[in-house]
Amino acid sequence: MSRIAYVNGRYIPHSQASVHVEDRGYQFADGIYEVVMVLNGQPIDYDGHLKRLYNSLKLIKIKANFSEASLRIIIARMIRLNHLVNGTIYVQVTRGVARRDHKFPTASQPAIVMTAKLLASMPSPSQKGVAAITVADERWARRDIKTIQLLPNCLAKQEAAEKGAFEAILVMPDGSVSEGSSSNVWLVTDKGELVTRKANENILNGITRQSVQRIAGMHQLKVSERTFDVAEMLNAREVFITSATSIVTAVTKIDDTVISDGEIGVVSAALREDYIQHAHGGVL
Ligand code: PDD
Repeated sequence: MSRIAYVNGRYIPHSQASVHVEDRGYQFADGIYEVVMVLNGQPIDYDGHLKRLYNSLKLIKIKANFSEASLRIIIARMIRLNHLVNGTIYVQVTRGVARRDHKFPTASQPAIVMTAKLLASMPSPSQKGVAAITVADERWARRDIKTIQLLPNCLAKQEAAEKGAFEAILVMPDGSVSEGSSSNVWLVTDKGELVTRKANENILNGITRQSVQRIAGMHQLKVSERTFDVAEMLNAREVFITSATSIVTAVTKIDDTVISDGEIGVVSAALREDYIQHAHGGVL
């Protein structure tokens, strides 16, 4: 079965899917995106991802020429055409095609592209702990916007991969941890306090992060939204990351430091299990 991509109103074989060379996404990274996890054929945390997509568009002043209802129809069709049971849908919207000029074109229409990625199997509630490295956060100041401008994130993730790690944890000039190159970072302190950075312009307010906050609340777990530095993170009882694709994943080693006893902590294990259970139950 060949993969099907969606490009500006057309469903075409993935191998033939392309956009114009003067798409502003290609030339200026002038666009935004979302990654939605699909489990059992159902998009997870769907409302949150769509809401953030519209918010990102608004923040970079792209006027959507499509309704949320039409997006839902296209995504449902992409899931069907790709026989996507477990996987992800990638949605990208750029300012469209125009003669290269920094200022916004007056006549172009937003360009929409979607691709589907299949997962070999359903993400399992049990997990393997991953290693991470710390890297200087060299991104722009509006990390709350999910733009396709991801070069610093790619450089950080590549450095992690070259060091045999799964994620790069980004550290701001003041020494505080912002987030992962493609995830939010959490820790559990010795007192059992769950900590993640407050969502403002310094981080992307992860949709998974928001669901995990709600799930933690159901367990009467207190979540403190505050900054923490690398030393506090390395001494934490547990460290984990959240994202649409990693769900909740324990980080058991950072740089040369093993976190706690190097085992997956009870809090991250419970939150991952609950997130998957809620997703199956159609609660997310
Ligand atoms: N990344 N922070 C950054 C920088 C991210 O790129 C992501 C997601 C997150 C977590 O957001 P969410 O929980 O909504 O997925 C936080 C996606 C998965 C990606 O770029 O592939």
